[in-house]
Amino acid sequence: MICLGIESTAHTFGVGIVTEDEVLANESDSYSGVGIHPREAADHHAEVAGRVLKQALKKADIGVTDTDVVSFSKGPGLGPCLRIAATCARTISLQSGIPIVGVNHCIAHVEVGRWVTEACDPVTLYVSGGNTQIIAYAGGRYRVFGETLDIGIGNMQDIFGREAGLPFPCYREMDKMVRTGVYIPGLPYTVKGNDFSFSGLLTQALKMVQEHTVENAAKSLMENAYAMVVEATERAMAHTEKTELLLTGGVAASPRLQEMCCTMCRERDASFYVPPHSLCRDNGAMIAHQGLLEYSHGKRMRLEDTVVSQKWRTDEVEITWR
Ligand code: FE2
Repeated sequence: MICLGIESTAHTFGVGIVTEDEVLANESDSYSGVGIHPREAADHHAEVAGRVLKQALKKADIGVTDTDVVSFSKGPGLGPCLRIAATCARTISLQSGIPIVGVNHCIAHVEVGRWVTEACDPVTLYVSGGNTQIIAYAGGRYRVFGETLDIGIGNMQDIFGREAGLPFPCYREMDKMVRTGVYIPGLPYTVKGNDFSFSGLLTQALKMVQEHTVENAAKSLMENAYAMVVEATERAMAHTEKTELLLTGGVAASPRLQEMCCTMCRERDASFYVPPHSLCRDNGAMIAHQGLLEYSHGKRMRLEDTVVSQKWRTDEVEITWR
């Protein structure tokens, strides 16, 4: 069976094509403004959609009518962006008579990780621009065992980079600073229960730039942010008694975050997995894989059910495939 999946929750418009066994194509184009203006990002997606779709079909060496099902990110995400993938998927479905399935973006991150790594039943730390969540399967649902109370860790990094005058995108530069900078104690470390908050930390780190170097402020900011999420993740692993950690999302590429996760897992004799970056960041292949998974377990959607769902919670999704 072949599924064509379309992603457009935020910065990235992506088209992936998968079978049960492999990724045939995973093409994308990202909006590259500093921060994100939902309407401008949606305009970008609409503009590149046709080209990215053609590229993916060419790479997979198939035509649209060779696909058995088309899937799209139904939510959560930015409304104007989400509607581009939904519209593309509906058009393909209507024109070619292919069944359509809308899937949850956060769960797609988890499931593609389970597919391409050896993780079976992990606690997932999902860290990206807009999302920072600790997710694990319990009692028949994917439950959230901790999450940001304000901004995502990637957005925090973006804002710091922009305010501190770093070139966009600032990730590589900041990863370097985390390696070479000096840690200055005193920044907020805000873990509430098993949730965390980044906005106070960001404000104080930006003040720190005035008294210290950008490099040291960036180092101190990211050390605290990573330590906060890893602490909460470890507690979730202890609580759920799970022995695997899956790190995913765009921020999973951070070498320092990977190192901290690795150390934590080693200390508790757990296994640690990170999918390849092309499947960690927002991408169409994970949406295609999730679509295939749900369709092959009986999921069907009428066209009127395909409206996007901006605030679709991870724990609201009915799990039929495990
Ligand atoms: Fe994502």
